[in-house]
Amino acid sequence: MDHIKGRIYAIAGPTVMARGMWGARMHSTCLVGRDGLLGEIIRIEEDTATVQVYEDTTGLSIDEEVVSLGRPLTVRLGPGLLTNIFDGIQRPLHRMDEMGYSFIRKGLRVKALEKMRKWDFHPERKRGDRVGGGDILGVIPDTERVVHRVMVPHGVDGTIREIRKGMVDSMEPVCILDDGREIFLYHEWPVRTPRPFRKKLPPLTPFITGQRVFDVLFPVAEGGAAIVPGGFGTGKTIIEQTIAKFGRADIIIYIGCGERGNEMAEILTEFPELKDPETGLPLSMRTVIIVNTSNMPVAAREASIFTGITVGEYFRDMGYRVAIMADSISRWAEALREISSRLEEMPGEEGFPPYLATRIGGFFERAGRVECMGSPGRTGSITVISAVSPPGGDFSEPVTQSALRFAGTLWALDTDLAYRRHFPAVNWHRSFSLYIKELEEWYRQNITSDMMDLRERLLAILQKEAELKEIVQIIGVEALQDTDRLTLEVADIIRDGFLRQSAFDENDAFNTFEKQYLMLKSILLFMDRAMEALRREVYIEEILSSPVRRRLMEMHSIPSERFREDIRDLIEGLERGDPFSVKKGPSSSRGGS
Ligand SMILES: Nc1ncnc2c1ncn2[C@@H]1O[C@H](COP(=O)(O)OP(=O)(O)OP(=O)(O)O)[C@@H](O)[C@H]1O
Ligand SMILES: [Mg+2]
Repeated sequence: MDHIKGRIYAIAGPTVMARGMWGARMHSTCLVGRDGLLGEIIRIEEDTATVQVYEDTTGLSIDEEVVSLGRPLTVRLGPGLLTNIFDGIQRPLHRMDEMGYSFIRKGLRVKALEKMRKWDFHPERKRGDRVGGGDILGVIPDTERVVHRVMVPHGVDGTIREIRKGMVDSMEPVCILDDGREIFLYHEWPVRTPRPFRKKLPPLTPFITGQRVFDVLFPVAEGGAAIVPGGFGTGKTIIEQTIAKFGRADIIIYIGCGERGNEMAEILTEFPELKDPETGLPLSMRTVIIVNTSNMPVAAREASIFTGITVGEYFRDMGYRVAIMADSISRWAEALREISSRLEEMPGEEGFPPYLATRIGGFFERAGRVECMGSPGRTGSITVISAVSPPGGDFSEPVTQSALRFAGTLWALDTDLAYRRHFPAVNWHRSFSLYIKELEEWYRQNITSDMMDLRERLLAILQKEAELKEIVQIIGVEALQDTDRLTLEVADIIRDGFLRQSAFDENDAFNTFEKQYLMLKSILLFMDRAMEALRREVYIEEILSSPVRRRLMEMHSIPSERFREDIRDLIEGLERGDPFSVKKGPSSSRGGS
């Protein structure tokens, strides 16, 4: 490749200008200065290249050399990604730490994936087979949980002359084609180029988060995108982390983007310890963490979401369901703004560059469920769940608005709810899911035929509650009809007993769909029975003080081994008839007659 050399004549924070760069190409990576800091060319004028540097430029001086490498920023793909923690340009963080650097030393190149490690390769093709891009050559047990499918890189095809079996390291080919071309366990892929697939497929199954308010009310489809905007402290990070722990995906990519260092430190220490409640295996076995905290260089933060989604696409191409957690896209956008302002580009809304939406789209549009390239035929998906941190919690700002254009699900977090410690602080009036229509059939087939009806009823009760609350403000609760009072009470049970979900209670933190359904069913059945009882002129006080109400409020924390019997028992009781027996006396005429 062309190694074009120039010299630095200006440095402004993370951007560096170099002259003498004739022939250098846009988006080519560069080594900058004596330490060989990694950078990327983001503007070229005549012989001058503007380079954004992914590392700290302190100490860099005028006249140091810039070498353009002639290739774009890439990630290295292959076994060993899982369980690892990388920075925004895929330098492994913990290994650097082990090597005695408290943080990353400048210009330090550690090959993203360990060079010396040997992998046990099981071929699934043989000599004489014709293969092409995306075909699976064989498999490697990557972690105890995930089988790594070794694929023919895109753009390569031919007939197999030789294929290995057994232990292989990253330096030796696993396969040699007839024309002598070698295929290795690893290949590089440019982070800003989406990896190809055969066909985009409609999203037909929900991505199960285990969170009731999401799975029942505002589901995101596998292959869809959800955004989670919320003001300071509304619970965005807890949502991202809870879903990273319990979400039903084969692979989780967690991108900590511009958040506080101590928060990420928590994840880094906590995550490797966590066990999957289903398999008992460490959750890190399905996870790749990419971190660029607020004190790390902004350019690498800008790159981090593309590094993350490229790694995600690689696992998607193996036929896996991948979920990408990004916290937060706003910090990424701020990095973009900072770089743009150093380039003295014409600012758009709130100082963000005019191409903000296009760039955000470039990330979100890489979500999707696809038919993968190559044989055997397989489908894979990428679901994106991205936090947004609008300043002052005001959703009309450009990042939230741009992200909304690409997301099918909005989980709008609400400062008032968070203040009242109603978590997840999802505002049920503002949030939405555009996937409901497509997912309906799945719910009918896989949960029950009435799931969608129950969901509609639940939303209707919450809507009615909002209307009634306005009336109550004027005339007081005493003046309401008993049926309306009951609606308010049921809304209360829905809010406190169902929508609220503690991330810290082990029985509550993750719910299977079965538990979610049974809880919902029992609450609505209670409402039906209570309405009937009111018609039979049972006192509403009798209904409200009934032990059933308390049981409904406490359902969420029933241990998983007992909930089925407990809730079924409750439901059967309610199905047999209403548990409210005290009738109004003939003289009673209070309430809603
Ligand atoms: N599901 C939950 N269950 C219990 N508590 C929660 C839950 N979600 C959030 N909280 C509480 O809210 C606090 C703030 O949450 P979190 O750090 O996720 O907010 P954030 O929106 O990411 O904040 P920031 O704007 O600072 O990034 C948590 O420390 C926790 O006490
Ligand atoms: Mg946060």
